[in-house]
Amino acid sequence: MDGTIKIALVGTGMFGGDVHARAYADLQRAGISPQLARLGLDGWARDLAPIKFQLVAVAARTLKSVRRTQATVRRWTGQAPKTFAGPRPWREILRGFPDLDVMAVATPDPLHAEVILAALKAGVHVLTEKPMCLDIAEADRIIELARAKKRIVAVDMHKRYDPDHLRIRQEIKDRIGAPLYGTAYLEEPLHVSTSTFKWAEQSDPFSYVGTHWVDLIYHYYGSKPVSLTAVGQKQRLAREGIKAYDAVQVRVDFDNGMSMNFQNNWITPPDFEGLVNQGHEIVGTDGKVESDQQYRGLRWWHRGGGSRTANTHFTRDVKRPDGSPACVGYGVDSLTAGLAAICRMKFCGATRASVADLYPTAEEARITVAIVHAARVVRDLNFRYLRQGKGAPVTARFGHDGITIVDPLGASQGKVFRQIYRKAL
Ligand SMILES: NC(=O)c1ccc[n+]([C@@H]2O[C@H](COP(=O)([O-])OP(=O)(O)OC[C@H]3O[C@@H](n4cnc5c(N)ncnc54)[C@H](O)[C@@H]3O)[C@@H](O)[C@H]2O)c1
Repeated sequence: MDGTIKIALVGTGMFGGDVHARAYADLQRAGISPQLARLGLDGWARDLAPIKFQLVAVAARTLKSVRRTQATVRRWTGQAPKTFAGPRPWREILRGFPDLDVMAVATPDPLHAEVILAALKAGVHVLTEKPMCLDIAEADRIIELARAKKRIVAVDMHKRYDPDHLRIRQEIKDRIGAPLYGTAYLEEPLHVSTSTFKWAEQSDPFSYVGTHWVDLIYHYYGSKPVSLTAVGQKQRLAREGIKAYDAVQVRVDFDNGMSMNFQNNWITPPDFEGLVNQGHEIVGTDGKVESDQQYRGLRWWHRGGGSRTANTHFTRDVKRPDGSPACVGYGVDSLTAGLAAICRMKFCGATRASVADLYPTAEEARITVAIVHAARVVRDLNFRYLRQGKGAPVTARFGHDGITIVDPLGASQGKVFRQIYRKAL
């Protein structure tokens, strides 16, 4: 088996320019085999070792920023990907590289679906950042096209690969009995919403990072939502003139009887001891699991630096003997899983169906998108009612008939039940 997987990366910001670019640069240098053992896929290491990877193109909104990534990749690999910029640079990439294998999508949250659909239409596999998209109808279009074109859409749900989460899923969740309720939280730093993202107003902390936890819980239990309620607050970012939610809280009830609270914000002051604050806990009929993803037991402080902690399981730099940085940790694992599946399809005759249990699929992401979509509608209605002093009475119901928004205060306009989706989840 010999050949090349050609990759293009669209979006070279905080995440694309760092985690994605480094992952593909490492693949270009050393192939996929060194990464496979982390995923338990080392049985394929010899088979997939001869495959070459090439990051052929990088794209962003502006040329200035994409050139930075190009220079970094050149420094890491000795080869420079072609640069593209503009409002829709993926179109040019798809025209310029008719033999492209993979489009990696790390654009802002509201700009995933368009890139994914364009890539699939051209017969190109996709590795996409989460959330796969923000709208359940978009999720259906993506899945339909991926099936028709026999292509993979792998979603970067790397929390599944955190070693603690692997252990919870494989050993602990069954020992604690049937899940009753739980909490999952991820609190992002203020600079993300105030300076890093130009697009904070087009997303929200639940869509942006709550998706990780929704996916993880679905990955643990495979249970679908039956109802949810959601609220959000707008106070801190309003001070900066940013019209976005500071924080969002969503409670989802699942068909296995479990109720989960998802709490997210992107306003944590820089004084916090780590990069982000995150964790989850689940109470079952016979026990409980608590998992702190931020404080892993490593803490240090020094004069002028405050007290610090770090999630050392995520990607971090390890210096190679030649001084170049290797990216080590679970942060790249879902990208590797998606690429392993793509390699199996391109070079080993595997079908889309036969590799589906290797990586976080579009079909699984659809459940998360449904929750994100419904939570957005419910949260906005409740926000309006709360401001009017009417409480937060709105909920969403998921069923065989689709997704229904239940708004008791809509009775006067005959709008108590509003179906926003008409297919079963
Ligand atoms: N998996 C994770 O843990 C994780 C962490 C951070 C971000 N993300 C996700 O990654 C995605 C990108 O986030 P980020 O933090 O890198 O954001 P960012 O704002 O730092 O970067 C966005 C990038 O997209 C580019 N872009 C914007 N509009 C574009 C267009 N029309 N055409 C081409 N490129 C365009 C920008 O130039 C920039 O390079 C988001 O969906 C986010 O949710 C995931």
